[in-house]
Amino acid sequence: MMQERLVALRSRAKDDLAKAKTLNEIEYVRVHYLGRKGAIKEIMKAIPSLPPEEKSMMGKMANQLKLEISDEVEGAKKRFSPSSDSSTDKTPRLKNNAQDAKGSFDLSLPGKRQPYGHIHPITQTINEIKSIFSKLGFAVEYGPELEQEYYNFDALNVPPDHPSREDFDTFYLDNKLLLRSQTSTVQIRTMKKRRPPIRMIAPGKVYRPDTVDARHASMFHQIEGLLVDEGVSFQDLKYALTSFSKIYFGQDIKMRFRPSFFPFTEPSAEVDISCSICNAKGCRVCSHSGWVEVLGAGMVDPNVFEAVGYDAEKYTGFAFGMGVERLTMLRYGIDDIRLFFENDLRFLSQF
Ligand code: DAH
Repeated sequence: MMQERLVALRSRAKDDLAKAKTLNEIEYVRVHYLGRKGAIKEIMKAIPSLPPEEKSMMGKMANQLKLEISDEVEGAKKRFSPSSDSSTDKTPRLKNNAQDAKGSFDLSLPGKRQPYGHIHPITQTINEIKSIFSKLGFAVEYGPELEQEYYNFDALNVPPDHPSREDFDTFYLDNKLLLRSQTSTVQIRTMKKRRPPIRMIAPGKVYRPDTVDARHASMFHQIEGLLVDEGVSFQDLKYALTSFSKIYFGQDIKMRFRPSFFPFTEPSAEVDISCSICNAKGCRVCSHSGWVEVLGAGMVDPNVFEAVGYDAEKYTGFAFGMGVERLTMLRYGIDDIRLFFENDLRFLSQF
């Protein structure tokens, strides 16, 4: 009699669990059969009054059934939360294959914070210089890194036998193509594309087959500048470069222009600033001279105007070119150019 009740209870419990559609419904089933006032408890209460020969067998069967139903309940719960085997977890869970594979997914947990990246110091310098010159009215131009000899040398008045054309100073590819060794190429491209007045800067990568050491890399960055108009003088060049240096390095910086030579400018100058690291007192960065060279500059050579078809009698202009790595190193007192390209976050994250 009691045995039949137990067998019937088992099959009803299984049916009920199979029909349960939510975790809440499973919980109802659990309480109904296994709870303090549940069906199994009811049966167990009746066991003491059974005849002694049945008592122990019924007790065992009831206990057995209790375990069986709890297993079934846990099994049914797993249909909803496959990774959770906690019988106290009553939270209904969404079923989703991706989540099944990875285990449970708790929408209420805070997100994992991803570390922020930031802009490389070289790009920061380029951005800053672009912003300074745009305030002085200069547009930004770009040119290709894979270049023709014409733009890198011929149109820039570089004679055919100039040493910078040798293949130990320039990377050549087939078909007279090369990797540009200076951003001065963009002067020519811009002058051919536009008419004066021109005010532009051209940032970008340049390539040279130099042996890599603390001061040289086979790829580095330059910013070229060009201004062409009627009546432009060396004074305008000095004004533009002095304004730039004071904004970039600080108002107390001093500048000096030393006569020099570049094929595309006449006259040409190399420009030094007073060392910003030691306040011109003398240090390793300025080789104890108090001065550091920051750029080359000059008045555009009439031959360059001729190459792009401008009337050299009507127009004059100035040009300059600076090394971005060098400017960045001077500003922060960095003594090895290779640090910029090694991708070592201990270095990069300081900027
Ligand atoms: N192109 C030169 C270099 O790579 C730098 C330079 C010097 C650019 C004088 C200029 C300039 O425009 O006028 O060394």
